[in-house]
Amino acid sequence: MPVESGQQSSRHSNKAPSALIFDSGVGAISIAREIRRQMPGLTLHFGIDNGFYPYGTKPEDTLGPRIVDIASRMVSACDADLLVVGCNTASTLALPELRQTLRQPVVGVVPAIKPAAAGSRTGTIALIATEGTVNRRYTRELIDQFANSSRVINVPAPELVALAEAKLRGETIAAADLAPVIERLFSGPHGETLDTAVLACTHFPLLRDELSAASPRPLTWLDSGDAIARRVRWWLDELKLTLPSEPHSSQLLTSSEHQSEQILQAFGEFGPTYQHQAIAVRL
Ligand code: DGL
Repeated sequence: MPVESGQQSSRHSNKAPSALIFDSGVGAISIAREIRRQMPGLTLHFGIDNGFYPYGTKPEDTLGPRIVDIASRMVSACDADLLVVGCNTASTLALPELRQTLRQPVVGVVPAIKPAAAGSRTGTIALIATEGTVNRRYTRELIDQFANSSRVINVPAPELVALAEAKLRGETIAAADLAPVIERLFSGPHGETLDTAVLACTHFPLLRDELSAASPRPLTWLDSGDAIARRVRWWLDELKLTLPSEPHSSQLLTSSEHQSEQILQAFGEFGPTYQHQAIAVRL
């Protein structure tokens, strides 16, 4: 369970407040940009499980225990005040276990189905996510709870994960690369009335401009970055942590040395003062 505020604030009184943002890859960046925009003084560490990327196609019984093991060891390694699970595939699977394991608060990403259903004028929304997130019980329950009277087009789009990674490595993403996803959005049942698309994978907001340009007509593209950042702010207040005007130096933790240089480069916008650390995987 999340720890009570008093314990946290006294224990960490001598260091700069920090959050660890966890993901399988560069999706953490879309969440981090929103947190940095709202809280420039919060030190952001990154925990990237690149050794098990991509998450979206992995079976739940392997992925769940791995996320809990590696994310908790990454939180300890950088002594973060809170964990932000910057990954829908991980959040929809492992949030309860992470909250049971960690004494720090855990903020998870929830697909923006509720605001999408509330804001859609036509009543047709699309859920674009990894296969894991689309098929998750958690996601089905969210839809039942908040989008019961909407038409929901499910669009598993694992290829967008790889395209977002490629974009952050400096590659240009062409409209043709996105055509299969655009086709799945508009050409199936109810596609003609679609007006709102939920980007329910943190990699996807990194491709928002490209998706919007490739779309045959304007859609509202919703993600959860703003909601996550507001929840982080709420926790900082709850823990009575005051932010300095500038963040302190960050740590980039990875589970594999594979492509560490490229990862370091992709996260460079969050500070020049990274320390890189590889975290050994136990499972
Ligand atoms: N960024 C992750 C998410 O939000 C998953 C990407 C992957 O498949 O590893 O779902």
